[in-house]
Amino acid sequence: MVSSLDGFIAKKDGDISWMNTTDRYENGVTLTQEYIDEFLKSIDCYVMGSKTYEHALELGWVYGDVPVFVLSSRNLSSERTTVQFYSGDLSKLVNEQLKLQYKNIWMVGGSVLTKELLKLNLADEIVTTIVPVLLGEGSLFFDFIGKELPLLLKDSKAYKNGMVELTYAVKK
Ligand SMILES: NC(=O)c1ccc[n+]([C@@H]2O[C@H](COP(=O)([O-])OP(=O)(O)OC[C@H]3O[C@@H](n4cnc5c(N)ncnc54)[C@H](OP(=O)(O)O)[C@@H]3O)[C@@H](O)[C@H]2O)c1
Repeated sequence: MVSSLDGFIAKKDGDISWMNTTDRYENGVTLTQEYIDEFLKSIDCYVMGSKTYEHALELGWVYGDVPVFVLSSRNLSSERTTVQFYSGDLSKLVNEQLKLQYKNIWMVGGSVLTKELLKLNLADEIVTTIVPVLLGEGSLFFDFIGKELPLLLKDSKAYKNGMVELTYAVKK
C-alpha cells in the first residue's frame, strides 16, 4: 500500500495523484522499471475491494492478465476473464481457495479490505511505501483495526523520489 506520511492512502475524493513524486532524496536508490517489472512478476494474484477496483478501471487497468479477485456484495460483472467477484467470508476465500492455487497473494486495498484482512489475521507481510507528503485527510491505511499486531521489519529502502518502502512480517 502506498501511503502519505500521515497514513492516508487516498484523498477524500479518491485522488492519488500525490503519489507521483520525483527528486526528493538525493542519496536514495533509483527506482528502475526493471525493479518494478521483477516485483510485479512475483505477484500470483491480486485481491481488492470494489471501490479500488472501480477506481482502477477509471485510471486504466494495470494488472495485465494476472488473476484479480474483487470483493463486492453488488452484482458486478467484467468482460475480463481474469477478473472474478466474491462476496462473503474473506478467510474462506484466502484459506480455502486462493492459498491452494497461488503463492504470492497481493492484497491491493483499500482501507476497508485492509482492515478486514488484518482483523482476520490473514496478512503474512505488510509492504508500505511512504510518500513524502502530508495529506491532512482522506482514507486511512490502518483504519482503527482494533487490535495490536507485532511486526518484524524485514527490509527498508529509500528511493530518489523520496519514497520509503518498508516490508514487515506479521508475527503469528
Ligand atoms: N494508496 C494505495 O496504495 C491504495 C491502494 C488501494 C486503494 N487505494 C484507494 O483507496 C480507495 C478505495 O478504498 P476504500 O477503503 O474506500 O474501499 P475498498 O476497500 O477498495 O472497497 C470496499 C468495498 O469492498 C467490498 N467488500 C469488502 N469486503 C467485502 C466482503 N467480505 N464481501 C463483499 N464485499 C466486500 C464492499 O463493496 P460493495 O460496496 O460493492 O459491497 C466495500 O464497500 C480508492 O480511492 C483507491 O484508489 C489506494
